[in-house]
Amino acid sequence: MQATGKSRVVELNHPLAAHHLSILRDTKTTPSQFRNQVQLLSMLLAVKATEDLELVPHRLQTPLCSMDGHRISQRIAIVPILRAGLGLVDPVLRLLPDAEVWHLGMYRDEETAQPVEYYSKLPAADPAQVGMVLDPMLATGGSIRAAVAALKKWGVKNIRVLSVIAAPEGIELFHREHPDVTVYVAAVDQELNSLKYIVPGLGDAGDRMFNTIR
Ligand code: PRP
Ligand code: URA
Repeated sequence: MQATGKSRVVELNHPLAAHHLSILRDTKTTPSQFRNQVQLLSMLLAVKATEDLELVPHRLQTPLCSMDGHRISQRIAIVPILRAGLGLVDPVLRLLPDAEVWHLGMYRDEETAQPVEYYSKLPAADPAQVGMVLDPMLATGGSIRAAVAALKKWGVKNIRVLSVIAAPEGIELFHREHPDVTVYVAAVDQELNSLKYIVPGLGDAGDRMFNTIR
């Protein structure tokens, strides 16, 4: 795992990430395998993105003796961006079973590549202590920029983004608006093409995940 550049980007640098990402990208990968690969990569991302979570001591009894263990002490909100962000929810929830899940619906306008919000369950008050935005693709960064802005409006102070593949242009724009937010990614790819798709990328993540390619 390594921090890249001046901005706050943490890119997984791990053989398992490289292996599972290659399967994810491959056009031969079926939707079922695609979902599985997203889950595996999400777990790797979640481990890295939670290294700074706070713990409280927790007294417990093993079969042999009592001891001081630990529990996560912070109130954590997971915020998937529909649709494709849904694919990251279960693996992150397995690691953080007490986290809250707040859904945000956004799609990218095909002409303008601008995010259009169509659903938001984010509350207006009583913010979580830690927010984790989930979306497998950070292309222009528009969707994730808008999601992070929504979390800030809710009042969340400690936010991080988990994304599988990002484009350098999108990360740059994202950090112009949100320099305080770390982005955890499995890979930073080469560039965006003229249609604002990530190259080499994996195509349309939502369509591949939900088998809706036409
Ligand atoms: C995809 C992806 C991100 C967004 C990334 O969603 O899951 O949300 O595009 O692009 P951006 O960084 O340029 O905003 P899409 O709009 O295809 O919706 P979907 O998840 O419903 O398929
Ligand atoms: N959304 C995707 O699903 N893939 C891209 O490459 C860009 C945006």
